[in-house]
Amino acid sequence: MELSPWLFMFSVLVKASVIMADTNGQDTAGLIGIAASWNTHPSNWVGNDPCGEKWIGISCTGDRVTSIRLSGTLRGGKPGTLSGDIQSLSELQLLDLSQNKNLGGSLPSSIGTLSNLQNLVLAGCSFSGEIPQEIGQLSQLIFLYLNSNRFTGPIPSSLGRLSKLYWLDLGENMLTGGLPIFDGTNPGLDNLTNTKHFHFGVNQLSGTIPRQIFNSNMKLIHLLLDNNNFSGSMPPTLGLLNTLEVLRFDKNSQLSGAVPTNINNLTKLAELHLENNQLTGPLPDLTGMSSLSFVDMSNNSFNASDAPSWFTALPSLTSLYLENLGIGGQLPQALFSLSAIQTLRLRGNRFNGTLNIGSGFGTQLQKIDLQDNQIAQITVTGTPYDKQLILSGNPICEQGSSEKYCKTTGQSNPAAPPYTTFKNCAGLPPTCLSSQLLSPSCTCAVPYRGTLFFRAPSFSDLSNESYYLLLEKDMKAKFLLHQAPVDSIALQNPFIDVSNNLEMSLEVFPSGKIQFGEQDISDIGFILTNQTYKPPPVFGPYFFIAQQYLFQNEVVASKSKKNSMPLIVGVAVGGAVVVAVLLALIVIIAKRKRKTHNTEERSQSFASLDMKSTSTSIPQLRGARMFTFDELKKITNNFSEANDIGTGGFGKVYRGTLPTGQLVAVKRSQQGSLQGSLEFRTEIELLSRVHHKNVVSLVGFCLDQGEQMLVYEYIPNGTLKESLTGKSGVRLDWKRRLRVILGTAKGIAYLHELADPPIVHRDIKSSNVLLDERLNAKVSDFGLSKLLGEDGRGMVTTQVKGTMGYLDPEYYMTQQLTDRSDVYSFGVLLLEVITAKKPLERGRYIVREVHTALDRSKDLYGLHELLDPVLGAAPSSLGGLEQYVDLALRCVEEAGADRPPMGEVVAEIERITRMAGGGAESASESMSYPSRTPRHPYGGDSPAEYSSSGLPSSRVEPK
Ligand SMILES: *[C@@H]1O[C@H](CO)[C@@H](O)[C@H](O)[C@H]1NC(C)=O
Ligand SMILES: *[C@@H]1O[C@H](CO)[C@@H](O)[C@H](O)[C@H]1NC(C)=O
Ligand SMILES: *[C@@H]1O[C@H](CO)[C@@H](O)[C@H](O)[C@H]1NC(C)=O
Ligand SMILES: *[C@@H]1O[C@H](CO)[C@@H](O)[C@H](O)[C@H]1NC(C)=O
Repeated sequence: MELSPWLFMFSVLVKASVIMADTNGQDTAGLIGIAASWNTHPSNWVGNDPCGEKWIGISCTGDRVTSIRLSGTLRGGKPGTLSGDIQSLSELQLLDLSQNKNLGGSLPSSIGTLSNLQNLVLAGCSFSGEIPQEIGQLSQLIFLYLNSNRFTGPIPSSLGRLSKLYWLDLGENMLTGGLPIFDGTNPGLDNLTNTKHFHFGVNQLSGTIPRQIFNSNMKLIHLLLDNNNFSGSMPPTLGLLNTLEVLRFDKNSQLSGAVPTNINNLTKLAELHLENNQLTGPLPDLTGMSSLSFVDMSNNSFNASDAPSWFTALPSLTSLYLENLGIGGQLPQALFSLSAIQTLRLRGNRFNGTLNIGSGFGTQLQKIDLQDNQIAQITVTGTPYDKQLILSGNPICEQGSSEKYCKTTGQSNPAAPPYTTFKNCAGLPPTCLSSQLLSPSCTCAVPYRGTLFFRAPSFSDLSNESYYLLLEKDMKAKFLLHQAPVDSIALQNPFIDVSNNLEMSLEVFPSGKIQFGEQDISDIGFILTNQTYKPPPVFGPYFFIAQQYLFQNEVVASKSKKNSMPLIVGVAVGGAVVVAVLLALIVIIAKRKRKTHNTEERSQSFASLDMKSTSTSIPQLRGARMFTFDELKKITNNFSEANDIGTGGFGKVYRGTLPTGQLVAVKRSQQGSLQGSLEFRTEIELLSRVHHKNVVSLVGFCLDQGEQMLVYEYIPNGTLKESLTGKSGVRLDWKRRLRVILGTAKGIAYLHELADPPIVHRDIKSSNVLLDERLNAKVSDFGLSKLLGEDGRGMVTTQVKGTMGYLDPEYYMTQQLTDRSDVYSFGVLLLEVITAKKPLERGRYIVREVHTALDRSKDLYGLHELLDPVLGAAPSSLGGLEQYVDLALRCVEEAGADRPPMGEVVAEIERITRMAGGGAESASESMSYPSRTPRHPYGGDSPAEYSSSGLPSSRVEPK
């Protein structure tokens, strides 16, 4: 009540101020309120007239703010939120806050009041919590980009009310539940008859896809449902979506049943991804789908059949991936002469008879992979095919043939990246400052960098540079058209990631200056995120994730409380009326401050951690909660003996139960341990930015009363090491070991390929892999981990740390750490898992032992003696073991460049799992274990850590 005279005065004064300023007072107050919930703001947000003074990112119509575009321009060390003040901006049509990783928390439900909003672009931020139902009230909404955040909970059914929605992108979140449909009262996604894009990939959506969801009124062109947990079968109504161009259903490991026979009604479909499901019934008939260019149906359980006739009747086909499907018969020669064909991946089938590629093979045909088929002969007519042909595992190779096509090199693993933009320097290139990079036009500048993720490219030949040249040219032209000061575009390292996207890194260089300004970055971010830019058709749908840009004269949010003053100071130049307005504003701000007091206090104490945050790597605290000492004391029963579950590297681990009922493990650092303190910081910083089902999650931490404690989710089945040594009572047969290894590999692949910036774990070992009640592996202990890629070279030079026996010898010798060092440790882990032996014990080194005993002409490669007896040594029960050993040995290649990237390792283990007959994910659903108290799931053994100087001279050396 006491405030109301102030509020009255405020509104009077704001009205008065309109006379002086060009901006409506409600909008000004709204913007100031929003900026107060950030810890930073664009540099010229000073004064009280956003429209008149052309605040960066703000556009107005008359005196009303109609557009806010701040893509990638918010910096500052502390995470900010989007405050409910956004509702003041009632004329807003466009809100783009994308690519601001330091912007998180939940979306305020008051966003639903913005009845004029047409574009809501929040991609690539850190928003969490549920998507508010109120978004369904935004009746004018056309573009909704919520992708690449941390949203949880269900897709709100209210989205079905967005009758004008054209683009719905919810990909790369952690959404759960099913796809909502009209239920008689509430609308559902089936009501979205004007929407062309359903992008739902890479979430945790589940349940059966209801048949009502698709109808013939829909105009979908992109339907992305990949990398989720959908079950049941594909709905037959899919055949009604005859405008569809891209369909991704891949990696829903529970998806089963037959593919609807009317799928070949989709005659515009260019990209079809059905791989890695459990689909059954006949191999889908793709007859008449003449637009198809990319078809992947690998790794399903279709009925065995012979090569279907549509094989040779798809004129645009570039890529045919049909692995492990039991397709048989003679391969038709016409397949090789399809005019656009680039890649045929047909391994693990039953193709037989004589292979005749003929001489009229397609000019773009780069790879024919027929490994593990039944081909007995090869006939060469005319010019022989001289690109990659793989026939190992066929009868023709059984007689120890030395033909090139018989080599068991596994998948090709080119050491050099398939493409890097050429730097056009006439003489010696100049040496750039460390913050700068060399542009394609050979000048040093600070580029805007990020990663492009193409969700369904129509090609598979990643080494064909014409695609990238086209993209560079096209993208540059588009930037110039939108008047962004862009000199050139550099692309590099294209590769297919674990989610089956084509990833490549992008650098955009400024024109006529060395650095971009804030406005430039927000323009470029908007163009890339709002998809105003359409890449050439071969690339298909994409999304962009930026790295934070380092502005010159960086206005770092100062630590002092005066931080919000510049807004006010600028105004003070004005007359008395303005001063009075100011007073009112101060009251409002003070009030708001009080409201946010709690969170601020929390961030303050976090700041006191004084993490070394270079301005490009800001510590992220997504969701990690701060506990007080007393809270943790209470939940662990005063750190009682009974709750003590082990001793780790830097202290004890206790079990506790949060008031919500959640079981947690509390790792308490020994007081005064410097090592512990360093690891503590690293672990909080890294774990709070990663979330993956195969990486242990951090619930929170405590920094109170001189204590340092980490609070993790509780993982009941102890470590992989305990299972292998028989200590834990969890028995692991071959399939279960593969399952654990697959999970571990996925966790590491996530750190390398999806975390941004990439993370090298540096201490992969069996005691750092935890097993939950369903034997899902969780990678833990990030105390030694490092961020990679700030400089784009994918490596850091750093003091050697790790654990003896798992340590990469190349890293040890050069001190240069890359993601391939983890691949080495993982390779050692692979060998440990089949031998159940410590990697290094009494001078015996597992890698050398396997190399010595290996005899590829014998079954199980002659390794019977070395294998863990618990596995049983019958070759029939160890399906895929040879391939597993091949993979392990590639991982422990001496040169990092010869080791496969983790994404490839994951794909290979998935293949091996199928060879072992494992229904990969479901293998152990119904297992039960003797209940037990695990000893110490978190500590592992103390990290036998050493610096290079402290290393024993009998150095570990593979081979
Ligand atoms: C949603 O679709 C159903 C029919 O499929 C229709 O009866 C209902 O009125 C629609 N609701 C809205 C809000 O458009
Ligand atoms: C195929 O699409 C047409 C519209 O182009 C539609 O009328 C027909 O019902 C569809 N057929 C099937 C079997 O779904
Ligand atoms: C190839 O396999 C088919 C069955 O898929 C069989 O009918 C045919 O006889 C086989 N041909 C040869 C040469 O083995
Ligand atoms: C991007 O946003 C602009 C700005 O309002 C809008 O007009 C345009 O249609 C959007 N384009 C795409 C493809 O998202």
